[in-house]
Amino acid sequence: MDDKKTILSGIQPSGALTLGSYLGALVNWAAMSEIYDCYYTIVDMHAITSRQNPAQLRNTALTQLAQYIACGIDPDKNTLFIQSHVPAHAELSWVLSCYTMFGELSRMTQFKDKAAKNADNINAGLFTYPALMAADILLYQADLVPVGSDQKQHIELTRDIAVRFNGIYGDVFNLPEPYIPKVGARIMDLQAPTNKMSKSEIADGGCVLLLDKPEDIMRAFKRAVTDSESSIRYDLANKPGISNLIQIYSACTGKSLDEIECEFEGQGYGVFKAKVGEAVVETLRPIREETLRLLADKSYLRSVYDQGADKASRTANKTLRKVYKKIGFIER
Ligand code: TYM
Repeated sequence: MDDKKTILSGIQPSGALTLGSYLGALVNWAAMSEIYDCYYTIVDMHAITSRQNPAQLRNTALTQLAQYIACGIDPDKNTLFIQSHVPAHAELSWVLSCYTMFGELSRMTQFKDKAAKNADNINAGLFTYPALMAADILLYQADLVPVGSDQKQHIELTRDIAVRFNGIYGDVFNLPEPYIPKVGARIMDLQAPTNKMSKSEIADGGCVLLLDKPEDIMRAFKRAVTDSESSIRYDLANKPGISNLIQIYSACTGKSLDEIECEFEGQGYGVFKAKVGEAVVETLRPIREETLRLLADKSYLRSVYDQGADKASRTANKTLRKVYKKIGFIER
């Protein structure tokens, strides 16, 4: 047995990956993938909590797998899998939903936001979504969950559920911690910088996708909404547009916020926006090229997700068997 930490994280294939998913989560996934025992999943079961086009869902999930690999996650050293290929997720989710309170689920910000935006489809799955997410994490006894800041609340609830379960049955689940980056944890929409950049809302042109062409990325940054001042200064409350651009530039170049303010002192917004656009283009270029190359090799991608499902199932089933035994289900 080695004592490497276990990492688990997932992204919904509910739309093409954005610069937000990359800087908030994937960058850290790749960095952790060289050091820890990592499970990275494509959470297609979560995605159907909002209506998906079946052909598009399949396509988005496969593209997402190629993007995980293109971001630098080596499928031979890590476990990359599709959530619906590992039935233990659905099974543990049911059990955990019996240890999750209605009041807890009602307080989830993501539920409230999504329910407000999709008033015609507030389904039960959308409501119990956090129990499935808790199952994703607890099945692997994860220590760390690298996510953007919007997922912190779900991980806190996962811990509460685990503590409640352990309190009744003994130490069944490891308690996970969120791992949230200092810079890039909440990338905002370029056209509406008080809203989170989101893959399910790409209509306004404020969203940059990982597969966008360089000229489209440059255009999006040149048109980014800023403010009527002219100083390049980090001030989240009063200058959300410029602050978002500074964050993006920092995340792409590794420069600190102070260094960036000095670098652009006395310069205009136009120059700065173009520089941020170029930094993003150069960050995403190799990922885009590698994704397109991998997508041309479907049999390789299939071998990755088949192997990932086998590896993930082995770990997940161990936890599930333990849980079933603890709660009093007869072993088969
Ligand atoms: P999802 O699919 O909305 O987003 C995937 C990851 O990307 C991060 N992210 C962002 N980070 C910074 N700025 C943004 N604008 C931005 N947009 C997205 C998210 O924080 C997330 O880390 N419930 C999860 C998926 C999930 C999951 C899990 C995550 C299901 N099971 C288990 C971790 C562990 C979600 O909806 O993420």
